[in-house]
Amino acid sequence: MSDAAGHVPVLLHECVRLLAPSAGQTVLDCTAGRGGHALALSRTLGPRGRLLLVDLDAGNLAFAEARVKRELATEGVEGSVPQVIAIHASFAEVSRRLKSMGIQADVVLADLGFASNQMDDAARGLSFMRDGPLDMRLNPAAPITAAELVNSMSERELAELIDELGEDSNARRIARGIVKAREAGPITTTHELANVIRASVPKGPPSGIDPATKTFQAIRIMVNDELGSLDRLLASVARAASRREEPDGWLTSTARVGIISFHSLEDRRVKTTFGSLVRDGHVSAEGEQPTTASAIELEHNPRARSAKLRVVRLLVGAGAAR
Ligand SMILES: C[S@@+](CC[C@H](N)C(=O)[O-])C[C@H]1O[C@@H](n2cnc3c(N)ncnc32)[C@H](O)[C@@H]1O
Repeated sequence: MSDAAGHVPVLLHECVRLLAPSAGQTVLDCTAGRGGHALALSRTLGPRGRLLLVDLDAGNLAFAEARVKRELATEGVEGSVPQVIAIHASFAEVSRRLKSMGIQADVVLADLGFASNQMDDAARGLSFMRDGPLDMRLNPAAPITAAELVNSMSERELAELIDELGEDSNARRIARGIVKAREAGPITTTHELANVIRASVPKGPPSGIDPATKTFQAIRIMVNDELGSLDRLLASVARAASRREEPDGWLTSTARVGIISFHSLEDRRVKTTFGSLVRDGHVSAEGEQPTTASAIELEHNPRARSAKLRVVRLLVGAGAAR
């Protein structure tokens, strides 16, 4: 679902409440997207504050930067807006980038996955609802497209991919269908692939979920190395949280970190990392359970259905001193 900016941010009020940025702090939005969360998180920062925007997609990054600057200037008294810095990068490398800039963040948000404007753009090939080239890269400079994967992987590799990253019980049937369809020539468009998948699975009673959904998810995750990037971000948070002292870290000693995930493969990783940091006394968690969307939000934004927000606050020194 999209608004004038092309994307409706999920759990917006919950992010502001739990991440609670205050005047003079540095907020790092690891997934700037269309700037919705960044704007809401930067309103309290004031002229001594700083907003760092990161995105793999240069178009979204530029949009978010322009939007935040424009809207803060319109809303605020002149001279009261924070410094805004845009960084075109993966959040996998954000700790290194901040260290090299000599900046520590007080608040970090990662809102995983893709934005509605990216899904709605047929040319990106992310959605089986729109016909377009089978590409799926969030960063057009990424080395491999979805078409290259689909047309080069063996049947066994495809089955493993669809099973592990799509969690689809029809993985083997779909892999077989893809390999058979390839005999007539490469699969190059989203509609071609979706039709091959639909024809490969047994017809059951209508479930409301397109049979192509999970395979598209699996391929997108692999093309963009989504889980590898999340693992690297979580490892950077864990390293910063478990340090004894802080001469060159990228997070302040009481930083808050929030991650919004949209499926179990992501949430499991966040839950495991945050859980072990809590057990070791390196962070405190904002709530035992993840925060999910209210009934009112769900009415307006069905995309929020699967969103889970987990927030921790660093307690640097506390765990290490035990
Ligand atoms: C769900 S959207 C974020 C929406 C944003 N919170 C807003 O309010 O508009 C996810 C964004 O993260 C970006 N992205 C995905 N993986 C990334 C990564 N590894 N590093 C940086 N940005 C990434 C996508 O390009 C997309 O713009």
